Amino acid sequence: MSIFRTKPVVDDGEKTGLRKVLGPIDLTLMGIGCVIGAGIFVLTGQAAALHAGPAIVLSFVAAGIACAFSALSYAELASTIGGCGSAYGYGYATLGEIIGWIIGWDLILEYGFGVSTVAVGWSGYMNNALTAMGIHLPVAITAAPGVGGTVNVLAIFIVAVVTVLLCIGTKLSARFNGVMVAIKLIVLLIFIGVALFFINPELWHPFIPERAAHALNDPANGPAYGWTGIMTGAATVFFAYIGFDSVSTATEETRNPQRNVPIGIIGSLVICTLLYIAVSGLLTGIVPYSTLNTPSPISDALIQLDVRGMAGLVAVGAIAGLTTVCLVLFFGLTRIFLAMSRDGLLPPVFASVNKRTGTPIRIIVISGVLMAVVAGFTPIDKLATLVNIGTLAAFTVVCAGVIWLRYKHPELPRPFKTPFTPLFPALGVFCCIALMLFLPGFTWMVFFIWLIIGLLVYGFYGYRNSKMAKAA
Ligand code: ALA
Repeated sequence: MSIFRTKPVVDDGEKTGLRKVLGPIDLTLMGIGCVIGAGIFVLTGQAAALHAGPAIVLSFVAAGIACAFSALSYAELASTIGGCGSAYGYGYATLGEIIGWIIGWDLILEYGFGVSTVAVGWSGYMNNALTAMGIHLPVAITAAPGVGGTVNVLAIFIVAVVTVLLCIGTKLSARFNGVMVAIKLIVLLIFIGVALFFINPELWHPFIPERAAHALNDPANGPAYGWTGIMTGAATVFFAYIGFDSVSTATEETRNPQRNVPIGIIGSLVICTLLYIAVSGLLTGIVPYSTLNTPSPISDALIQLDVRGMAGLVAVGAIAGLTTVCLVLFFGLTRIFLAMSRDGLLPPVFASVNKRTGTPIRIIVISGVLMAVVAGFTPIDKLATLVNIGTLAAFTVVCAGVIWLRYKHPELPRPFKTPFTPLFPALGVFCCIALMLFLPGFTWMVFFIWLIIGLLVYGFYGYRNSKMAKAA
């Protein structure tokens, strides 16, 4: 029995109990819901202050280009293969079970750790908002052990809220997401409008600052400024783009997925890239980039300019933004569990869909509890770069999968085709690996440990219970 066993490439339309309720607008909003969050509201300032300076815009362009190649590849595989497992399903169908498993395991890292990380960011913004309203929560219940507290109650609260929403139904979750996305988009557009009046072009000079003396003298501090700083900035703000791929986890709940999933993936990426370039460019044009290393750089920049009302509005946008990121990442996680469990690689308990709600309630609740524990009791936010590496690894396989499938199954109908194949997918592989190389050594170490755990789980459970193996 080979671990490179494969199943028929195209989704066999197996009945899942999931309901086809989503259209192209739902999907685009879902992509934006998952993309715009901590990346732009938190990391932009840190990446500008510590790594790239005003050239943070170029970091966003570089990360956006890497994502564009991957998005086109996702769109092709979603239109050709289908299924709700996203990159897991594509890897499984094109490159075999073991590769599919590794990608699925990566995606659990991306989505699962992503939800917990963003929940902690949400609790930070919420706590600031409560403090501004005169409600002071004791630090013991607003931070995890290891970062000064005992339990992060607010992070647990937001995970609980999205757990309930997802259990109730996909359409309701999509509606809630739509409202929250509208709020965060309006807030970002208002920020752009206001910032235009405060631009000081001098702040953009030098656009690419010299490598900082501290980085030259002390490599342990990491590279700062110069071209290396731009690339390190890109690897950091890559987090801001994570999430457009979640659209592909909703394939089985989408009407006419061959057409609508590519629209959702590419549409959300284009909208978010334009917004990111505008917001990050303006941010370094209104205050000195060196002042931006704070947990809420956009609000703080407005406070520096004495536009305090706007700063409060930005906090509202950030809270709405981080809520939808949690919601959609969580949604994606459960659909990946569902797909892996249906293939026999995870226990069947993950695969059952509730008849009344049409949602996989059991797996939603189990993962909700796990992620709440991680968000509430561990300093997870220190591991945010793990989410980047897991995602970049998945993107690499998706791009490679497009080239492989064109060669192996040229006859398959492809309603959406990645242009300039194999050049574009190959550039996608190159860009993703290049960005991974700019991530810290510690991230790589934890990533390898995660992969080893995954291979052990596969060896002891998935390999023996795989449906493909039983059918062989
Ligand atoms: N892209 C998402 C964010 O920035 C994960 O929060």
